[in-house]
Amino acid sequence: ARPLVIAIDGPAAAGKGTLAKQLAAHYSLPYLDTGLLYRAVGRKAAAQGLDLDDPQAMEPLARDLDTGDIDEGALRGREAGELASRVAAHEGVRRALTAFQRDFADRPTGALLDGRDIGTVICPNADVKIFVVASAEVRARRRTDELNAKGRAVVYETILEEVRQRDDRDSNRAVAPLKPAEDAHLLDTSELSIEGVFREACRLIDAHI
Ligand code: C5P
Repeated sequence: ARPLVIAIDGPAAAGKGTLAKQLAAHYSLPYLDTGLLYRAVGRKAAAQGLDLDDPQAMEPLARDLDTGDIDEGALRGREAGELASRVAAHEGVRRALTAFQRDFADRPTGALLDGRDIGTVICPNADVKIFVVASAEVRARRRTDELNAKGRAVVYETILEEVRQRDDRDSNRAVAPLKPAEDAHLLDTSELSIEGVFREACRLIDAHI
């Protein structure tokens, strides 16, 4: 069979990561969580005390990022997500991370990537593009429950505010704003279980194979 390239995009906390991992396993595709790249740059900038809103200072960090040395565990948190969305607004940062992502997608095995601009910028020729959506309230509720289950005392209203801020920043930036590609399938997960989301995504993908 032809190598399959799948692009999963959508806003923060829509369930992209969970879906992407399940799909990558199901279709035996290498998986790249592209948010980790921006998180790593944001973390590095904060650790060095640099100004995250200064494009000149941020671009070299992205260019010199050692992608083999990304520690997912240290980057998963909300703070890293916030740092990521600030550095991700700079065109130079995005450009510096493009080649790595495209090379990943170009493997002979095919690949699955998730992020914000995979279907629009990184892999415009992906075989299947899925844009995962859910209302800000649903996403904030899920994230709050997830954190509470891990023993983290967070308040729904705080998380909702964070989700809205991140949506705002990701959707309104000048470069590669969060938006569905014209040929993306919209998958609204608001009323679906994790299993239901997976099944619906498989249906969309299987229709393309
Ligand atoms: O998906 P995740 O929450 O890890 O992404 C963190 C931030 O990185 C996003 O809010 C977004 O600003 C940025 N990002 C991006 N493009 C991607 C992946 C992530 O701009 N392809």
